[in-house]
Amino acid sequence: MNLEGKTVLITGAGRGIGRGLAVAFARAGCAIAATARSESELTGTAEQVQAQGQRALAIPCDVTDAEAVQAMVEQALEALGPIDILINNAGYAKFEPIHAADPAAWRRTLDVNLTGPFNCIQAVLPSMMARRSGRIINISSLAGLKPYPSQGAYCASKHGLNGLTKVLAMEMREHNIGVHAICPGGLDTKLTQENMPERDKSDWMTPEDVAHAALYLAGLSPRATTDEIVLRRFDSAPLGG
Ligand SMILES: NC(=O)c1ccc[n+]([C@@H]2O[C@H](COP(=O)([O-])OP(=O)(O)OC[C@H]3O[C@@H](n4cnc5c(N)ncnc54)[C@H](OP(=O)(O)O)[C@@H]3O)[C@@H](O)[C@H]2O)c1
Repeated sequence: MNLEGKTVLITGAGRGIGRGLAVAFARAGCAIAATARSESELTGTAEQVQAQGQRALAIPCDVTDAEAVQAMVEQALEALGPIDILINNAGYAKFEPIHAADPAAWRRTLDVNLTGPFNCIQAVLPSMMARRSGRIINISSLAGLKPYPSQGAYCASKHGLNGLTKVLAMEMREHNIGVHAICPGGLDTKLTQENMPERDKSDWMTPEDVAHAALYLAGLSPRATTDEIVLRRFDSAPLGG
């Protein structure tokens, strides 16, 4: 499906995977509503979208705040028109073993990675359901499919996000709205730089690799769908391998 003229709302779009998604969808002809908390990072993303000749709206917002999310979505709808694609990408991680985990970090991880997508989905769905059209892509993780020691809160949040994705996909069938998850392995971004400083990330995936998978989902024919894309580093083992 041609994505020219579509409008995409991307959370966590200030840097890393979110910025890569914004630029890739702009290159495919889409207008971009970019949100995250850091205004300066969003401005950088908006400039890169505009450099592709596309409209960009940068709206600072904390996805854990349901009221703020509602206002952010209303602003995007007013400025750019109907949102065709929501990409829930904002994420947080603090890697630590469960027995020693900081309860505040546990709550924040679930708030950002699970309640954040829930808030954005609730805010965007009424307009998608009214139009009987739309797509929701949740950026999950391999940690949503298998356990990683020291990633208890992160694994729990991403397993939860995969559950939310599957239930919503069933509920939205009759409303003609596609719901998908992408489960990537390691990329070199601030999230992994802060949590895995000791690892050599030189051959890890890039935001463009995730964007490629998201463009595939967004461009699916109306007759076919796929629930989940597992995207792992080429030299990693297959799931169960
Ligand atoms: N890097 C990896 O290896 C990897 C692998 C699989 C999946 N993922 C997932 O990919 C997504 C993007 O991660 P990344 O690697 O690109 O990390 P990143 O560079 O740290 O980017 C995270 C983005 O989320 C935003 N964010 C964090 N908390 C937020 C909040 N409360 N409200 C709104 N925005 C918030 C950040 O902006 P502000 O801080 O300014 O709000 C930033 O724009 C996450 O969901 C992550 O779990 C990453």
